[in-house]
Amino acid sequence: MDSRLPDFHRATLDERLTRLQEAGWIANLEERSILQNSLAGQSFLEGFVENVTGAIALPVGLVTNLVLNGTDRLVPLATEEPSIVAACCKSALLVRDFGGVTAQAGERRIGGQVLLEKAASLRTLRREVAGMEAEFLEAANNRHMRIAAAGGGTLRIGYRALGNLDGVGVVDITCHPGDAMGANFVDDVAQFFLETYAPRLSARAVTAIVTNHPLGKPAKASVKIPTPALAWEETEGREVARRIALLSDWAMGDALRRATHNKGILNGLLAFLQASAQDLRGAVVAMNSYLESTSHGLLARWTVADDHLVGTFEAPIHAGTVGGTGPHLPTTALYYRWSGISQATDLEEVAGAIGLLQSLGALRVLATSGIQAGHMKLHGRKNRG
Ligand code: MEV
Repeated sequence: MDSRLPDFHRATLDERLTRLQEAGWIANLEERSILQNSLAGQSFLEGFVENVTGAIALPVGLVTNLVLNGTDRLVPLATEEPSIVAACCKSALLVRDFGGVTAQAGERRIGGQVLLEKAASLRTLRREVAGMEAEFLEAANNRHMRIAAAGGGTLRIGYRALGNLDGVGVVDITCHPGDAMGANFVDDVAQFFLETYAPRLSARAVTAIVTNHPLGKPAKASVKIPTPALAWEETEGREVARRIALLSDWAMGDALRRATHNKGILNGLLAFLQASAQDLRGAVVAMNSYLESTSHGLLARWTVADDHLVGTFEAPIHAGTVGGTGPHLPTTALYYRWSGISQATDLEEVAGAIGLLQSLGALRVLATSGIQAGHMKLHGRKNRG
């Protein structure tokens, strides 16, 4: 199916649903009514948080024109900010003639921690933890057959003494969460260690909890655009590309700019994760922890090489297609189908691609007409009513 839907933005909401149906993205009336009634009933909401008195609605706009890893996709963005969807559609159209976006999921990992105090020496604890590792891994993996069926499981444990506190250390548990984001799974595995294995250690266990610090390799996305294609009104493409790379270097060297540069990427990336009710807080702190470990601090970087503008996104995407609230939303299955998501690694790739396209949209505007011209015009629209 073709993700190019000309003049989609000019249509009414109802007309858009018809266009999606005509183009084959909506298969039947049932799917159409899922979208029309996408605010779930109160009884459904009661199951998720306490003291429910209502729900807030966020508009979900579709990113059209996207080719990701050679396949057309339509990607939902749930956001309150005007211009994000429009900018992403424009960037997707710009890159589609040059192979679209290429993306690759990261290494799916999530960790758990068990805090120990009154611990014997580092040597003793390392020996004790290593001695129980094989037995613990087998028992932990037997508790989570569904995670194992999706290629996941508990992979290893190790002990670390905390440098700042005498007799205090941590058992680190490394897991592959399969298609889940993994926090609930890891919390269970860590608690299981605390209750069943920690009593055998020369230490006293205090508590067990997931870590949102990323442990695996990051997801990646990239685009490569011949500079002439970036021309904008009076400004030549080569000059636009040069300025975009300059903006990227500016962000690398200036913390004040860096925050806004990264915000521009999160505008799209988090709006996508929000559309399927992912844990945005977990996703953000994982990206932040990752950025602290890099020399540049940027979620996406731009350079010019051989008369091409090259953009790369690199960061962990802590999100999943099973567990959590997302799978319970009536819209999620349809959104995943449109975005080509059947497993968590697909979700990582879409998130990275959208973040990168959003960055391109923001920087291209900053490099040419300036932010007030396009972005603020759209802000004005909602106030006109
Ligand atoms: C606005 O929400 C995002 C931008 O400020 C990002 C950027 O400056 O790169 C346009």
